[in-house]
Amino acid sequence: MPAYSASAPGKVILFGEHAVVYGRPAIAVPVSQVRAKVIAIAEPRSPRGLVRIIAPDIGLETTLASLPGDHPLAVLLTKAVSAMQVSHIPACSITITSTIPIAGGMGSGAAVSVATLRAISALLGRPLTDEQISQTVYEVEKVYHGTPSGIDNSVITYARPVYFVKGKPIEILSVKKPFTLVIADMGIKSPTSVAVSEVRQAWQSQPEIYEHLFDEAGRIASTARKAIESGKVETLGPLMDENHVLLQKLGVSSPALDALVQAAISVGALGAKLSGAGRGGSMIALVTPDTSNAVTTSLLKAGAVGTIVTEIGKT
Ligand code: MEV
Repeated sequence: MPAYSASAPGKVILFGEHAVVYGRPAIAVPVSQVRAKVIAIAEPRSPRGLVRIIAPDIGLETTLASLPGDHPLAVLLTKAVSAMQVSHIPACSITITSTIPIAGGMGSGAAVSVATLRAISALLGRPLTDEQISQTVYEVEKVYHGTPSGIDNSVITYARPVYFVKGKPIEILSVKKPFTLVIADMGIKSPTSVAVSEVRQAWQSQPEIYEHLFDEAGRIASTARKAIESGKVETLGPLMDENHVLLQKLGVSSPALDALVQAAISVGALGAKLSGAGRGGSMIALVTPDTSNAVTTSLLKAGAVGTIVTEIGKT
């Protein structure tokens, strides 16, 4: 039987997380060193409609029919059926693996969804456009994450740096001069839905303060966009520092994240901030070829459980 495989990258948010949920712009980039990979194989000899799901990383081996209806994969496959305009998914096996840290601020859930949708639509001979993929995954994110902005499904589907405003068509960023990030996983899982709903509660009780912080984050993201598009990479560092302070004020940093940010800055990173939902998850530091090793070592010493060095805008 032919196997249909698809993969999707992880992502980090460079600027504007949380504020993006409230309509301010944000910038995200794909991280191709970590990926979700899905292989779909037709199993015509299996009973009709038996969809086996195998995800060894999380010890899951089950069938679609036995997943709870609100399981993200069940929701995804239900939405996939209507996006592909088919009556059901034929008997097949879907094997999912991923090197993206789970609940680590790097879009693991959205990447699994994108790769699954691509593999399944290839299996059925019903390829979906990027727009259909991104939109379908957004619908799943809504069920799973409450009030997502849509930035994760967008950057992961298009696998390009994006400037994103909720509800507007995405804009692909052209990176004039490549720059290097060190990404550190602090090893503390932090579900996006929890951090997003806590920010929502805080915003409801102090709307003026939070609206102001969101405005500031939006201003930083649009300044950063100009810097990225005009190659003024060195100005991104201070903007990251500023954004981290705003995220602290939003209440989504933590002593451990602040310590990692400090560990990066103390050995010469040009700027650093938490990335994604916060609380746990990941942080990013802007480095030069000269400081990349020192920053990586310092982050690991300060408690990071893994680091990735990634160049943004390399062609
Ligand atoms: C999560 O990657 C980014 C958040 O802004 C949530 C969202 O935009 O949906 C925290």
